[in-house]
Amino acid sequence: MKLRILLFVGLLAFTSWEMSYAQGSLDVKALIEQMTLEEKERVVVGSEMEIPWSEGGSTGVGQVGGEVPGAAGKSLTNKRLGLNTVVFADGPAGVRIDPIRPNESNKTFYATAFPVATMLASSFNLELMKEVGTAFGHEAKEYGVDILLAPALNIHRNPLGGRNFEYYSEDPYLSGKMASYFTQGVQEQGVGVSIKHYAANNQETNRARVDAVITERAMREIYLRGFEIAIKESDPWTVMTAYNKVNGAFASESEELLTTILREEWGFDGFVMTDWFAGTDIPGQLKAGNDLLMPGTPGHKGLIVQAVKDGKMSEEDLNKNVEAILNIYKQTLEFKGYESSGSPDLKASQAIAKKAATEGVILLKNEEGALPLASSAKLALFGVASYETIATGTGSGNVNKAYSISIAQGLENSKQAIHSELQEVYTQYIKKTREDMGPKAWSFGPDKILPEKIWTQEEIAAFVAQSEMGIFTLNRTSGEFYDRQQGYDFYLSQEEQDLIKNISAAYRAEGKKFVVILNIGGVIETQSWKEYADAILLMWQAGQEGGDAVADILTGKVSPSGKLPMTFPNYYMDHYSSRNFPGRELVDNPYPSPFDAVESEVIYEEGIYVGYRYFETFDVGVSYPFGYGLSYTQFEFSDLKAAMTDEGELTLKCKVRNTGSKAGKEVAQVYVSSPDGKLEKPAKELRAFAKTQSLKPGKSETLIFELNAKDLASFDSATSTWILEKGIYTISIGGGLHDLQLSDSVVLKSGLEVMKTSKSMAPKREIDVLTKRKD
Ligand code: BGC
Repeated sequence: MKLRILLFVGLLAFTSWEMSYAQGSLDVKALIEQMTLEEKERVVVGSEMEIPWSEGGSTGVGQVGGEVPGAAGKSLTNKRLGLNTVVFADGPAGVRIDPIRPNESNKTFYATAFPVATMLASSFNLELMKEVGTAFGHEAKEYGVDILLAPALNIHRNPLGGRNFEYYSEDPYLSGKMASYFTQGVQEQGVGVSIKHYAANNQETNRARVDAVITERAMREIYLRGFEIAIKESDPWTVMTAYNKVNGAFASESEELLTTILREEWGFDGFVMTDWFAGTDIPGQLKAGNDLLMPGTPGHKGLIVQAVKDGKMSEEDLNKNVEAILNIYKQTLEFKGYESSGSPDLKASQAIAKKAATEGVILLKNEEGALPLASSAKLALFGVASYETIATGTGSGNVNKAYSISIAQGLENSKQAIHSELQEVYTQYIKKTREDMGPKAWSFGPDKILPEKIWTQEEIAAFVAQSEMGIFTLNRTSGEFYDRQQGYDFYLSQEEQDLIKNISAAYRAEGKKFVVILNIGGVIETQSWKEYADAILLMWQAGQEGGDAVADILTGKVSPSGKLPMTFPNYYMDHYSSRNFPGRELVDNPYPSPFDAVESEVIYEEGIYVGYRYFETFDVGVSYPFGYGLSYTQFEFSDLKAAMTDEGELTLKCKVRNTGSKAGKEVAQVYVSSPDGKLEKPAKELRAFAKTQSLKPGKSETLIFELNAKDLASFDSATSTWILEKGIYTISIGGGLHDLQLSDSVVLKSGLEVMKTSKSMAPKREIDVLTKRKD
């Protein structure tokens, strides 16, 4: 009798927990009171991952639970408390899951490959970013993913950063805005995001051990700023910490980063997870405010229970971690009982992916109207990537897509004539060379780029005679674990240089045009060879719809409107950060390996002078500046009116008019030059931007920008305060740093203390950083 009553009461409790989850009204604190220490441990640890060692992704075999094969991680369940499995999946380029599920052989689960984040940022289009986020959220929702491990918004500190393609920009404002709109789009679908990698994960070399030594000012103005914007404006459910150390402490173990700044100053109220296997001191991570250990390993079992018993961490601290996690879990689709269909509207995503790709293409050069193409022009497509176009990078920034449209296919789809014998030769060459090369060792590794097919002058001459225009596509790839190299990566190989020169000479000799397309994920050298191209199109890694998007630009169906989210320098060493990249190993490392990081440090000696902030301030010439991008039409900026209140609120109004002969969109970029005072300032900083609608010839749009003092402030580390100094603020506006058509100035009569912060994340020792001030 007694037993029966107990069972009945137990059943009642269990059912009511589940019901309150479903209603999203669960009293998490009350639930925690019911939990044993062991149960709490199971909440703060993930349920292990399946590592995709083999080519083509994981198989689902051996998956723990196996709800969404190929997802990067998930939570542990607890039947007694009604805690179901919450699924986490990458990532920034699409929902990274396996396309095949062992028990559902009649169905596939391909996700859309969107353009890489760098390309999304090149669109400078916030509404479009939100649409992309909505499509991601929708696919995640219908494929059973609760939390998306994106967006990634680390700064492009150096051109060789192996994961730069997963990140937006060298500018924190652009990065923060993009991440914020993307997050809004995803979360409106009921799927959470994990903003990553917090913070200063700007290289892959020794990523799990390297200590990034950064001034407090550069931390606040550059490396934390994007996160601050995204967190305050879009309320992400979760944050993922970085692998690296920042100023002596692992990001995942830094109370200053995770509690003082993130929660107390910025008001973040979600939970924080580690990057996969990151950090060394588990109780230290939990105590610092890193609530969830991902992906969870067998070694975690019992460790936290023991740490509490040994007094290494308190149960109250653990309760805080559990509470933060469950407060988010109860909002997930899983806990609300949503039944995913397994059939998202991929057609709708496809259209958004194409739109995003089209808006992210950047026209770097267009001499004498080489582009758009004449509809009758027959094209000879050179370069492996014209046929095997790279859609995305590797590692967790990859996606299992159903297809990817090459440039050749895109042009064929748009009925443009291409040289079919040349196509056939390349197709055979690619097939044979791929067979000889064999598959790559593991699916997370970098893709194998094929060597270019070399042509003799005679062969080229024959193609020139049979076509009206030559196109050469150059490719690059990169991904997790590896930074890029200077030789035959940033710089072109001799073969590539020769091909560009020779094909160009042959076309020009016949009075025909030659175009170069860049199918790359990060910055390459362009100044030594750009003279040989009549037009250069930067298509990035444009996702699965890349070929169709490029065809629309080449044929002039759409005018290009992408702008560079970073600088293309003349030489690699022109980047000030190149003096300190990827840092210095502090121990002997005779067998360097991407998987065994060693103690090392990298001093961010450029301070706040990252990217264009450096080139503009120190007047160093570049190949293409930040914000650069041409169009098939022209735009005129006019009627700039700027006004600033004594409280530092800046209002700007201006008009953008299409003065050319084709329809197109323009990105209005607002740069502010702030007065030097107590603090020195970069020559110019991007403080606002907006993209116009598609304007027909003669049409104009009026844009209004409203900025507050914080948007314009600089960080004074002597007092740990955001300040706005008195003096003249010059506002320049135009289609990029190369095209600042108007400027106006406003005066702030008295300086302002905008926001006091804690003294956090300062380097443990004095470091000398670049300054424009003479002693
Ligand atoms: C990456 C993360 C990713 C995680 C799960 C890690 O190696 O750094 O960005 O989300 O793996 O795939």
